[in-house]
Formats: sequence, structure tokens, C-alpha cells
Amino acid sequence: MKPLILAIAGSPRRHGNTEILLDQAIAGAEEAGARVEKLIVAEMNIAPCTSCGVCLETGLCSIRDEMEEVYRHLLTCQAIIVATPVFFYGIPAQLKALVDRCQALWARKERLGESLREERGHALLISVGGTGGSKVFTGVRLTMELIFRLLDMEELPPLLVERVDEKGEILKHSDSLKLARELGKKLVE
Ligand SMILES: Cc1cc2nc3c(=O)[nH]c(=O)nc-3n(C[C@H](O)[C@H](O)[C@H](O)COP(=O)(O)O)c2cc1C
Repeated sequence: MKPLILAIAGSPRRHGNTEILLDQAIAGAEEAGARVEKLIVAEMNIAPCTSCGVCLETGLCSIRDEMEEVYRHLLTCQAIIVATPVFFYGIPAQLKALVDRCQALWARKERLGESLREERGHALLISVGGTGGSKVFTGVRLTMELIFRLLDMEELPPLLVERVDEKGEILKHSDSLKLARELGKKLVE
């Protein structure tokens, strides 16, 4: 059975810089023999967490929407790629809703003592920011680090590209495109 990679496109801008890099990583993973499930978060019906507290008691989210499909993939995939732009030092609201809904998984693991996944996996973060500087990716990295740790996933060195703003501008960065493909491959090996 081919390993399953979950590829999460976190930008609301379709075919923008992060999705272009994500598609390269997907191509690399497929070349290495993986099957890939790509999710476009902004096109999914994923409501934000309401902090209702139900998951703290049951481990299950009280909201019924497409997050149910995401939970299933998060718990069964062998590796995960998250591609996200930097939005105000953080991640876009659509992706943040998905991240916050992982509170139900946190509750299962940390409150109810359940093990979430059968095996450890690998994770890759891809991010692009329009500006530069030492703090550009700090918020994004911290948030995603928590999710990868929750899922028992070991992180590969992230692909972080700064000072790329216009839609499709990343196509001029052949080194980043190449690296994304290589990292996608590495995720499977
Ligand atoms: C709402 C919004 C907030 C942004 N905030 C930041 C920011 O805090 N720092 C930064 O470097 N770039 C910021 N950017 C620029 C994006 O990170 C940049 O355009 C990136 O290339 C977008 O990737 P995408 O094409 O995959 O959406 C912001 C863009 C938008 C639309």
C-alpha cells in the first residue's frame, strides 16, 4: 500500500505562491511513490472552534462539518505538508479554524490519555511571506509546531521563503521550487 500524504493548502488565494510550492512538493512525493490527498482549506466548510468544552469530556467535536474528513486524514496519513502564507505574523483565518478544531484531538490525547495515531509520521511546513526579517515566520512556525507535535510528527526543515508577495512571483524562484520537490520526495523516503 502506498503511503498517504495529506497536503493542506492554507491560502485563500488559489494557485498563489504557497500552493505553487505545495504542488511541487506533491509532485516530489508522488514521484517517490506516495498517494496524496490535497485539501484546499478555504474551499471547505470548516467552522471555527466555539470553545464549547464538549471535546474536553468526550474527545469529540460538537460541530458537524468537513473537519470530520480532516480528522480522519490527520489520524491515518503517514506524512503531512502544510503550505501557508504569513498573514499578520500568523496563518490565514481559514487555516486557523482547522488548527483550532484540533483541540478535539488535543483533548483525546492530553485529557483522555488516548493515543491518536499508530505510527509516528513526518511533517513539512511550507510558508511564504511578503516581507522579510527575523520574525516573519515565528508565529506560523510556533502554531504549526504544536500541531505536528500533537500528531507525533517529526518535522523536516521547513521551506520558508520571504519577500515574495505578488501572486505567482514564486515561479521566479527556481531554487525554492526545486527544494519543494526534493522535500516532498524526502517526506516519503
Ligand atoms: C491579509 C494579509 C496579511 C498579510 N500579512 C503579512 C505579514 O504579516 N507578513 C508578511 O511578510 N507578509 C504578509 N502578507 C503577504 C503574504 O504573505 C504574501 O503575499 C504571500 O506571498 C501570499 O502567499 P499566497 O500567494 O500563497 O497566498 C499578507 C497578505 C495578506 C493578504
